[in-house]
Amino acid sequence: MTDYYLAPMEGITGYIYRNAIRDYFSEGVKKYYTPFLVVHEKRAMSSKEINEILPENNRGINLVPQILADDAKGFLRIEKSLKEYGYKEVNLNLGCPSKTVAGKGRGSGFLERINELDDFLYEIFKSRVMNISIKTRIGSKSTEEFEILLGIFNKYPIHELTIHPRIRYEYYIGTPHRDIFYEGFKGSVNPVCYNGDVLSENDVEELMQGTKGELKAVMIGRGMLRDPSLIRRLSGGEPYSKGELKDFLKRIRMDYTQVFSGETQVLKKMKELWGYMGADYAGKDSVVKNLMKCRSLSEYKMLEQMLLSE
Ligand SMILES: Cc1cc2nc3c(=O)[nH]c(=O)nc-3n(C[C@H](O)[C@H](O)[C@H](O)COP(=O)(O)O)c2cc1C
Repeated sequence: MTDYYLAPMEGITGYIYRNAIRDYFSEGVKKYYTPFLVVHEKRAMSSKEINEILPENNRGINLVPQILADDAKGFLRIEKSLKEYGYKEVNLNLGCPSKTVAGKGRGSGFLERINELDDFLYEIFKSRVMNISIKTRIGSKSTEEFEILLGIFNKYPIHELTIHPRIRYEYYIGTPHRDIFYEGFKGSVNPVCYNGDVLSENDVEELMQGTKGELKAVMIGRGMLRDPSLIRRLSGGEPYSKGELKDFLKRIRMDYTQVFSGETQVLKKMKELWGYMGADYAGKDSVVKNLMKCRSLSEYKMLEQMLLSE
C-alpha cells in the first residue's frame, strides 16, 4: 500500500486549502504538510504562521509542520513550541530553490554547505523532541552531489526522507531524475518518500517498477492542484464530478473571503488555482484565458460556471 501526502506549497496549500481537501477530497490523503515556517532570529512565529498550525484550523488533518532553517537553535526553538501544540513530526525544508531562500543558504541553498549542514543535523537530532523528517533536492549544481548528501543523511535517524529528484537550479522544470531517485531509494537507511511530477497512475506504476514495488510513500503537489481528486483516484476512488469541484472551489472562495478584506486577493488565489486546473480544460481554453484576466469576483463566478457546467 502506498501512502499519499499533500505537498507543502507556499501561498497555496495553507489551512484554507487543506480544510477544503479534507472536506471534499480526503480519501487516501495520509498526511498534509504546511508551507514552510521561517525561523527568525529575534522573534517566534508570525501570526500568519501560528494560524497555519493552530489545531483549531486543522481539525481532522494529519498535519506535519515544515520548518525552513539553517540555525539549529532556531529550529529547536520552533520544534519545541510545535510540540506544545501537540505535533509529533516536523519536516525540514532542504528543497526550496527560490533566490530569496536558497540565496541565503537555506532550503536547497543549504545543500551547498555540506559541513555546516552536517553540524546542523547533528545538533537537531541530538536535541530533538519529536520525529524529524526531511524534504530534499538531490543537489545544488550537479546531480553528482547526491551521493555525498545521502551519506550525510544516512548518519541520522530521519523519520522519512522525501526526495525531489531535481537540483536547485532546475527549479521545477524539466524531467525529474528518477534514476537518481532509485539509487537514493536503494542507498537510504531511512524510509524514503518520492516527490515530483506525479500526475497519473502511470507515474506511480513507473515508480513502483523502479523500486521493485517497495515504495511506500508519494508526496504530490501540482498534480493535486490540477486535479484535487488525484490521490483519491490513485487510491481506487472516483475522479471528481464537476458539481464536486464547484462545491470545493466555492468553499475555498468563501473561506478566503472571510480572511481577506477585499476581493482582489480572493480573485488572485482563485486564479492561481485555475493556473493549475486549467490544463485539464483544453477544450475551453478561451474561457480559462478570460478567467485568468477577469477583474471581479462576479465575472469570475460566471466564467467558473461556464467551465463547470456539465
Ligand atoms: C508555488 C509553490 C510553492 C511551494 N512551496 C513549498 C514549500 O513551502 N515547501 C516545500 O518543501 N516545497 C514547496 N514547493 C515544492 C513542492 O512541495 C513540490 O516539491 C514541487 O511542486 C514538486 O512536486 P509536484 O511535481 O508534485 O508539484 C512549492 C512549489 C511551488 C510550485
